[in-house]
Amino acid sequence: MKVGVLTGGGDCPGLNAVIRAVVRRTMAKYGGSVIGYRFGWAGVVDVNTMDLGLDEVSGILPRGGTILGTSRTNPFRTEGGPEAIQEEFARRKLDGMIAVGGEDTLGVAYRLWKEHGLPVVGVPKTIDNDISGTDFTFGFDTALHIATEAIDRLHTTAESHNRVVVVEVMGRTTGWIAVKAGIAGGADLILIPEIPFTLEEVCGTIRSRHARGKNFSIIVVAEGCEFPREAEQGEDRGVVVSQAGTDEFGHVRLGGIANELAKVIQAGTGFETRVSVLGYIQRGGTPTAFDRVLGTRFGVEAADLVHGQHFGKMVSIQGDKVIPIEMGHAMETVKRVDTELYEVARTFFG
Ligand code: F6P
Repeated sequence: MKVGVLTGGGDCPGLNAVIRAVVRRTMAKYGGSVIGYRFGWAGVVDVNTMDLGLDEVSGILPRGGTILGTSRTNPFRTEGGPEAIQEEFARRKLDGMIAVGGEDTLGVAYRLWKEHGLPVVGVPKTIDNDISGTDFTFGFDTALHIATEAIDRLHTTAESHNRVVVVEVMGRTTGWIAVKAGIAGGADLILIPEIPFTLEEVCGTIRSRHARGKNFSIIVVAEGCEFPREAEQGEDRGVVVSQAGTDEFGHVRLGGIANELAKVIQAGTGFETRVSVLGYIQRGGTPTAFDRVLGTRFGVEAADLVHGQHFGKMVSIQGDKVIPIEMGHAMETVKRVDTELYEVARTFFG
């Protein structure tokens, strides 16, 4: 059995656990071999590979990032991209390709299977935890721990200076990191893309908190929230971007909403306000035990799916069971934070 593996999209802790598991399972259980494709789908189009054996995956379990490298390459945006991938599958006589990625990388995998009949299996990863059909993606737990620790640290400095601190976390169009880190860190207000807010509500929450004797506040805001530019009417909303243009999958680069909010809060409440944007720190470094275990379980299952020729599937975790699901189903919608969870968070606002 000859298996290809690639990692695409933003990196996250736990990718190396998957790669290691794919290699170990394929070699030990099926006597097969694994070839790694470098920098996501770009490595298949350009035939940029590395052999993956026991030596290559030794010692990588606790390492963040991905030994294969990654990119946000969309082969469907490149002339002849899908055809080049088809040729590589045939030339290399691949029995299957394991694509480890978020909605973009898996969306490509799904189209290659659906439209070109290529034997592809998906493994969902992202710190954003926004992929449908799976309770968790690996990388999320690590990001959550990092964001929670940051909020803990910001508490002590905010309290010492009587300041409001606005903490901006990642998550793209969903608020999973924000809501869970905010609950875990005891945030005084959490703003997520799923729940629109007005600037008057934000300032009002801080004013009432300070009125009950608190001299500092921690506000967690997800990068993908729409900023209400006309506070009273709630009109003219839009995400805040850190750079013009879009990537190959049509995504804008989010970032900067905390700065916009801080200006409004300081002007609207009179309290000194500071900003902390956590950014890529949330994606870097060693994975938590949870993410190592999840990545390992996903990698083992993905190798089994290739061996069983169950293509067009994505591995998922539901409860404590690893279950293969239709990749197409997972690609249909983004998994958003439910109101019930947000209501729990809301209990502690102000
Ligand atoms: O999808 C993971 C993620 O970290 C998002 O939370 C964030 O918006 C985006 O990637 C940043 O992408 P890039 O690495 O291209 O700047």
